[in-house]
Amino acid sequence: MSVKYRFISWNPAKKAYDLALAVGLVVYLGLFVGVGAAMHADATLETLLIRALATSAFVLLHVILSIGPLCRLNPRFLPLLYNRRHLGVTMFLIAFAHAVFAIVQFHALGNVNPIVSLLTAGTGFQTFGLAALVIFFAMAATSHDLWLAKLGASAWKTLHMGVYFAYALVVLHIALGALHSEAHPVLAVATGAGMAWLLGLHAVAALRERAADRDTTRVEDGWIDAGPADTMEDGRARIVCAGERIAVYRYDGKLSAVSNVCRHQGGPLGEGRVIDGCITCPWHGYQYLPGNGRSPAPFTEKIATYDVRVVGGRVFVNPEANEPGTPVEPAHV
Ligand code: HEM
Ligand code: FES
Repeated sequence: MSVKYRFISWNPAKKAYDLALAVGLVVYLGLFVGVGAAMHADATLETLLIRALATSAFVLLHVILSIGPLCRLNPRFLPLLYNRRHLGVTMFLIAFAHAVFAIVQFHALGNVNPIVSLLTAGTGFQTFGLAALVIFFAMAATSHDLWLAKLGASAWKTLHMGVYFAYALVVLHIALGALHSEAHPVLAVATGAGMAWLLGLHAVAALRERAADRDTTRVEDGWIDAGPADTMEDGRARIVCAGERIAVYRYDGKLSAVSNVCRHQGGPLGEGRVIDGCITCPWHGYQYLPGNGRSPAPFTEKIATYDVRVVGGRVFVNPEANEPGTPVEPAHV
């Protein structure tokens, strides 16, 4: 969040996050190779490494895809979201190492170019792996906020939604490759369980949000009834839905409504709180003034504002959005 991009240094929370990730990976790879070697005396180190790297990248991909819906269901998971991009870049690097080892092992020894050999190989399952890897690369390479600023939030978000397509490609890669060529009950069960987990989690989070949206769409006079003012916690918001979600904030005895969508990566502003007089996004801390939806100087981000009124102790919001950054007189509780 800046007028001029400024690199942010590692803080203790980020260091702890990255350390836990690195330790978890080293333990997983060590255990996989160690247990694999003990159980299959004929397995080569290269094969064990290719599989250890492949499965750790796949597990990490599940963690990455679970964080969004978990945060929607329970805000206690938010610290995981804060550094999700580090997980994404790490996952790409592990998948890349898996691909390099696999290419060296299976395609580098003949007289055909290894990439041509990969693309023309029998079952073609590795082409799906390559396609997924290209998407992961595009995401990892553009994961920095510098790219977010260059591409714009919506193009960046669209590109990063490609992770779901890449996930499907990886499932095909596994189904047509490892599962097809060998009887791999553990891998088959784990892949099925992973898909069921992700589908279930996304469905539950979507249903919960839809139910909450339905609850808050009572309209009166064209304005949306956001419920009683006195049950709203100071410094917190109530989210109402008028096609777009709107965050109605109560602070210092006043009420203001702004778009629920953060300009950074679309974080749910109504799940944040007011800090130092600013609505603060729960995902990475972008801030906006409640009265006009503008980030405090020197920042320049703007979100839409909405008119608010209080009638008989109930809060009403005009669903017609004002231009981003338009000042609106707060309603008084
Ligand atoms: C150019 C890209 C890729 C190539 C050439 C490649 C190659 C291979 C090969 C040859 C195998 C079979 C290994 C074996 O059964 O011993 C395999 C399995 C696998 N690959 Fe890839 N892969 C690529 C990309 C990816 C990506 C991006 C992922 C994402 C996580 C991935 C995940 C897996 C998994 C989970 C397995 C099953 C591991 C097992 O057998 O236990 N691969 N891949
Ligand atoms: S989405 Fe990153 S700060 Fe709001």
